[in-house]
Amino acid sequence: MKICFTTNNAHKLQEVKEILGDSIELLSLSDIGFEGDIPETHETLEANSLEKAQYIFQKYRIPVFSDDSGLEVVALNGKPGVHTAHYAGSRDAVANMSKVLSELEGQTNNREARFRAVITYIDLEGKEQQFEGIVDGQIAPEMSGAEGFGYDPIFIPKGYEKTFAELSSEVKNTISHRKRALEKLVQFLKSTT
Ligand code: IMP
Repeated sequence: MKICFTTNNAHKLQEVKEILGDSIELLSLSDIGFEGDIPETHETLEANSLEKAQYIFQKYRIPVFSDDSGLEVVALNGKPGVHTAHYAGSRDAVANMSKVLSELEGQTNNREARFRAVITYIDLEGKEQQFEGIVDGQIAPEMSGAEGFGYDPIFIPKGYEKTFAELSSEVKNTISHRKRALEKLVQFLKSTT
């Protein structure tokens, strides 16, 4: 089965390929000939995820799924949330993480956070489904580790003492928000095909 994953993020694409294995043939945006950015104009992960999937489905009429994900920090009232990708004004991961760390300065007792992913799947007939995945954890005192991408160097998943960027991709891919949302998508696809 061929499905387009509506991302330009090479790390996300690689992660999703590792998680899905051979069960689904993933087409990236460049595989289908799409260049540029898909609009993300809403204030929730759900709405942006839907917008991305609909945008590509309406242009290409192929099965698609999108992932909109974000970091939600409890002591920051859920920020950066939907603004995770550009929190400090650009996609610069170090600047974005530095902003979260400085906003949490002095917060030693509540550094709870979670990553949340919302996947939208649209099938060939245009039917839409959403799947959510969450991984709980906390914000580390400083950046550490070189694996992964985005905010991985400051996120310690619950039950571990290392950040996502210090853990191997195998470990991250068994517990991540994206893995959990993708598991639901795969179950759904199995039940309908
Ligand atoms: P999106 O590409 O619009 O979904 O933006 C999500 C942003 O959240 C990314 O640019 C990353 O900064 C961050 N993010 C999402 N998933 C992860 C992850 O697994 N690790 C680290 N950062 C992530």
